[in-house]
Amino acid sequence: MTSNAKLIQWVKEWAELCQPDAIHWCDGSEEENQKLLDLMVASGMAVKLNESKRPGSYYFQSDPSDVARVENRTYICSEKEEDAGPTNNWRDPKEMKETLRGMYKGCMKGRTMYVIPFSMGPLGSKIAHIGVELSDSPYVVVNMRIMTRMGKAVLDVLGDGEFVPCIHTVGAPLEPGQKDSKWPCAPIDNKYISHFPETNEIWTYGSGYGGNALLGKKCFALRIASNMAKRQGWLAEHMLIMGITNPQGVKKYIAAAFPSACGKTNLAMLIPTIPGWKVETVGDDIAWMKFGADGRLYAINPEAGFFGVAPFTSMDTNPNAMLSAKANTIFTNTGLTPDGDIWWEGIGYDAPAGTITWTNEVYDKASGKPAAHPNARFTSPAYQCPAIDKDWENPAGVPISAILFGGRRPGTLPLVYQAFDWNHGVFMGSIVGSEVTAAAIGLKAGVRRDPFAMLPFCGYHMGDYFGHWIKIGETAPDKAKLPKIFNVNWFRKSPEGKFLWPGYGDNIRVLKWIFERTEGTVEANETAIGFVPKADSVDISGLDGVAENMPALLKVDKNDWDAEIELVKEHYANFGDKLPVELKAQFDGLVDRLKKA
Ligand code: OXD
Ligand code: MN
Repeated sequence: MTSNAKLIQWVKEWAELCQPDAIHWCDGSEEENQKLLDLMVASGMAVKLNESKRPGSYYFQSDPSDVARVENRTYICSEKEEDAGPTNNWRDPKEMKETLRGMYKGCMKGRTMYVIPFSMGPLGSKIAHIGVELSDSPYVVVNMRIMTRMGKAVLDVLGDGEFVPCIHTVGAPLEPGQKDSKWPCAPIDNKYISHFPETNEIWTYGSGYGGNALLGKKCFALRIASNMAKRQGWLAEHMLIMGITNPQGVKKYIAAAFPSACGKTNLAMLIPTIPGWKVETVGDDIAWMKFGADGRLYAINPEAGFFGVAPFTSMDTNPNAMLSAKANTIFTNTGLTPDGDIWWEGIGYDAPAGTITWTNEVYDKASGKPAAHPNARFTSPAYQCPAIDKDWENPAGVPISAILFGGRRPGTLPLVYQAFDWNHGVFMGSIVGSEVTAAAIGLKAGVRRDPFAMLPFCGYHMGDYFGHWIKIGETAPDKAKLPKIFNVNWFRKSPEGKFLWPGYGDNIRVLKWIFERTEGTVEANETAIGFVPKADSVDISGLDGVAENMPALLKVDKNDWDAEIELVKEHYANFGDKLPVELKAQFDGLVDRLKKA
């Protein structure tokens, strides 16, 4: 299927080490996909959903130990420890490779090794990059076929060129005659998600789930790509991309970074509640951005599908996501109804009697145990999204007018504010934080800083990453064409703990203000923290009970910000002398402005 000598040799060497029973080069065809799905139904790993309700769709339950990304088992193996920085787990690359090589020996016994060629980004796009994943999981193959451009066409584009080698095994070899488990994987402390940034390699072991196993996504498109982007002068970011068209037919694109589970998919697919405005989706999770010949920053979505969180997605909260998952979708760790459909908490209707939970028990609401795991997912092709943008596969990308940051902040941060300039925007990105509750395992309640929403995904020293963003601004071909930067906060609460802003489709009202700021057609108050909307410049027409919340939503409170400054100081102390002087200056500037406020 390929004459790429390096690829052929690489597959041969890994097959010798992992000792699979067979090797299968994935062509990405419909026929191959169906064969693998049938195989998994026959083995008991998958359930085919009711064809009349959910055509072409399949249901999986993972092992209870294998339900999410494992940040504490995720490693950046740079030559020097300081290059991984304070936010990553570092291991010496030689030692890590030695450990893993020992574990890989015979790890695919009794299984097939799938060779999965994939392109992150439209095939042949100048911004796209090719990877090849070796995996012993057919579940990974069928998910990669949705999430990336996968198969023979990728090998044709690759020719004799370079690829990012990605190794994946569930880490559960089978002895002759041994019955396979429904969801093979290794115990939690034997899982490894390792990245070698200097050599662009990904070696993983022991997990079959999501970001740990679909290596094009977080491992390649963020951790490895952030290193490539730094070396080559572009940006690989944890951002959605969306198009917004105003009633006059003017269209602008924005990119937005929010920490995991802050509603990126919902925002990317928003249905506006104000007449005449339209939102179209380019991507919901990752943006790769480079300057175009016209000096503007262009973004592509390197993915081809959505790997969305299912619980609380409904026809009310995100109809476009529900419609994207109407067919040809893989559901993992949701509930399963007796008539062969899926169900989850917050889907908008009660669970039918006899629904099975993700742990394969009969659902009993009274038990308090949910039917769906909170991180249950749907894997759906992006082209099925009714709001997909006509340029979502444009190899040149889409021009970005604004970049948004945000998180869940019950206090302090206004609904929206705009940075004074690029470096001030980088400062905003560097202090992104989100509220965590004491219920989240291993996390201290309060604000968890998640700079640029890249905390788990930046593949090198976060201080150097901040510096890279500063440099992008400095070296921009035309500074006047740089996107304007904003921070949004849909989650501000009243002292009684009630959300002040309705959110969801009404977020278009904030996007409208942002859109108009990029055109310079709406006014703002200059405050110590940035430009904040004037009291009446956010369009809340037709909204009941929000006008009285606007002062609280837009408030910049000196005491709150003095407290925030102390938290930012603590956060910045982590980066030592790697903190760019430009950000120290931004910090000092904010302190000064607050003193004068
Ligand atoms: C994701 C995440 O799955 O950010 O997209 O965790
Ligand atoms: Mn994400």
